Amino acid sequence: MIHITVEDRNGCTQVIEIPEDINLSLMEILKASEYNILATCGGMALCATCHVEVQAGITHLHEPSEEELDMLDALPDADENSRLACQIRLSEQLDGLQVKIKGTLNE
Ligand code: FES
Repeated sequence: MIHITVEDRNGCTQVIEIPEDINLSLMEILKASEYNILATCGGMALCATCHVEVQAGITHLHEPSEEELDMLDALPDADENSRLACQIRLSEQLDGLQVKIKGTLNE
């Protein structure tokens, strides 16, 4: 199992357990776990509504693509721990990852 600790926008934290052979992105897992993520672009690194701050385990992630970096650069609240959840493909190396949801919602 892959264990991901997720903090929502209200500061509530829970651990999600995901089977190792699942071939989904973190954004898809967050949506399936009923987190409020718009993911307007469907995972194309174009909307940044899946912005997360990685609080632990960032060294296990692959380097962000140019497209992801360009999108993150446009966010006022992004920092060096920011990633787009749609660009994080889950694998067993990510067991123990901790993320905080930051993407804004359309009101
Ligand atoms: S879902 Fe749009 S950037 Fe991730």
